[in-house]
Amino acid sequence: MEIKTIGVVGSGLMGAGIVEVCARSGYDVVVREINEELLQAGLDGIGASMDEAVKRGKIDVEARQTAWDRISGTTDLADLSSSDLVIEAITENMELKKEIFAELDRRCPSQSILASNTSSLSITEIASATRRPEQIIGLHFFNPAPVMPLLEIVRALLTSEEVLDVAQRFGASVGKTTVVAKDTPGFIVNLLLIPFLLDAVRAYENGMATREDIDTGIRLGLNHPMGPLTLLDFVGLDTTLFVADAMYAEYKDARYAVPPLLRRMVMAGRLGRKSGAGVYDYS
Ligand code: CAA
Repeated sequence: MEIKTIGVVGSGLMGAGIVEVCARSGYDVVVREINEELLQAGLDGIGASMDEAVKRGKIDVEARQTAWDRISGTTDLADLSSSDLVIEAITENMELKKEIFAELDRRCPSQSILASNTSSLSITEIASATRRPEQIIGLHFFNPAPVMPLLEIVRALLTSEEVLDVAQRFGASVGKTTVVAKDTPGFIVNLLLIPFLLDAVRAYENGMATREDIDTGIRLGLNHPMGPLTLLDFVGLDTTLFVADAMYAEYKDARYAVPPLLRRMVMAGRLGRKSGAGVYDYS
């Protein structure tokens, strides 16, 4: 099983980052969005991110152009049918994901591997929408995908040993260190990150310290690149809420119970950096 061409479904923040990672590592990538406008926005984001990488001396202008030329965009899922590996990075909606996987299963050759970048939904359930559950796997990248060195591989109940092996080699080929997790809510990283972020909101909600001091305490006391409330804005309050609710639904553990303030901030449209305001104001 050799991977040469990659399809990416979705060109939002994560999809765009995954396209960039793959193209910069020498793969031909086809990215699919639901309409031309979103596709263009995704491609513009990839271009801007690669410009930033050039500015920071991570790649030269020539490598940027070569990577760019490997990327093509489409609004038709059928254009991904010759991909050896498809990575889905659409919104966290199980029904939508199942529709996409069922269609990919019908269109792609039987040896193609179909992966999801989900951070909270069950890979085993996604696989149940296909007739190739042994070829389905989780490939969970971290934001910003071109910068973060980890790829969390999620092995579903029926994922084959061979597909796991290909996924590990793929991770190494795109310069990521891989870890392998079973298909349980939150996998490895979110299992620990989500209670941490929720506790930071609880501390802020209870008024035990200012948001700035909570962040500074963790940033300087533990040498984290961002304090938890800044990280929450970075990840997205809505995303964090969704992941926490999904984990609470399965574990019924108070560690994953969402503090009222977080839910209300999402209701009020304070979603973090992407909406211009979250715990902090970015306007
Ligand atoms: N392209 C290429 N390289 C970049 C870059 C870009 N666009 N932006 C930053 N970098 C590189 C820098 O060059 C630097 O590399 P070196 O150490 O080799 O010099 C490194 O990234 C750090 O950059 P800076 O020190 O300039 O700091 P920054 O503020 O620009 O870094 C950050 C930004 C990388 C996002 C950093 O703040 C960080 O690591 N934050 C934490 C991010 C995190 O935890 N992400 C995971 C979220 S959880 C998730 O995604 C999963 C989920 O399911 C919820």
